[in-house]
Amino acid sequence: MADIYDTFRDIGIIPVVAIEDASKAADLAHALVKGGLPASEVTFRTACAAEAIEAMIKAEPNMLVGAGTVLNVEQAERAVKAGAKFIVSPGYNPDVVDWCIKNNIPTMPGISNPSEITACINKGVTHLKLFPAERKGGYKIIDDFGGPFPQCTFMPTGGVTTENVGEYAKRKNILCMGGTWMVKKPLIEGEKWDEITQICKDAVKAMHNFHIDHMGINAKNEEEAKEIAKQFELFGFASKFGNSSIFASEQVEIMKQNGRGTCGHISMVCNNVERALAFLKPYGFSPVMETAKWMGKENASPLKVVYLDKEVGGFAIHLKRA
Ligand code: 3PG
Repeated sequence: MADIYDTFRDIGIIPVVAIEDASKAADLAHALVKGGLPASEVTFRTACAAEAIEAMIKAEPNMLVGAGTVLNVEQAERAVKAGAKFIVSPGYNPDVVDWCIKNNIPTMPGISNPSEITACINKGVTHLKLFPAERKGGYKIIDDFGGPFPQCTFMPTGGVTTENVGEYAKRKNILCMGGTWMVKKPLIEGEKWDEITQICKDAVKAMHNFHIDHMGINAKNEEEAKEIAKQFELFGFASKFGNSSIFASEQVEIMKQNGRGTCGHISMVCNNVERALAFLKPYGFSPVMETAKWMGKENASPLKVVYLDKEVGGFAIHLKRA
């Protein structure tokens, strides 16, 4: 079974739900799944939170449903009894953390400064919620935390939106992002399920931020590659010689030999290659692992570049981390 934290990373955005009427939970779950966000942090700010967790799991058994705003052990117990797969808190409460560790329940305590992070690390808890993210410095503070706390990954919530989710998503010490922006109270109360689905889809698109940065041309050999590069120089595209290819500016890569793709290749940039692969898997795309390049040490995540096994319009596609 996949590690639950890999599932957080792969889904990428965890909708933070405050629901007043548990009878709406099933429709909400369907709307989120349809929008590409099969996850929910159901907050214990409302009386029916436990009931809503149960209803969501019943409606969408494969959804990752957990509890949020868990302030004490009693709430954690109720949440897990209702089926919650994880416990999130806005702050660091050692009792809740100890209870989760003892009961083997994944937990993300809330932190907003180095002292709280240190307390969590000393409990062996390294996946943490940054709250309130935007007010505490947003992705910049997450970059800063990466220095002294390389073992930690973060789930920022508080002020995350479709506009800034992509900036968070590209950080290497971000596990996933959280927020209420796709499940605002009026949307749930007004049963605006299609609108919720659309906001989720827009958020997913912004999170990946797929865009093309270069195209690849397949030459037969080095001589032909040089000839092609010379032609691009006419347009002012300077040649940059590499081992297996020549770049004509940043936009065109001329493969010296054995270039992939019937017509060539397209370099598709995204914010996180692992998350993009998880997104593409249901559409029948798999990575060609012998083409993988990593950000750091070989075989150690995160991936930097990897080709997909299916062509699009005659072009091989490689994903490339932004
Ligand atoms: C939370 O409970 O995690 C935050 O209140 C979510 O913040 P947001 O409403 O700004 O998304």
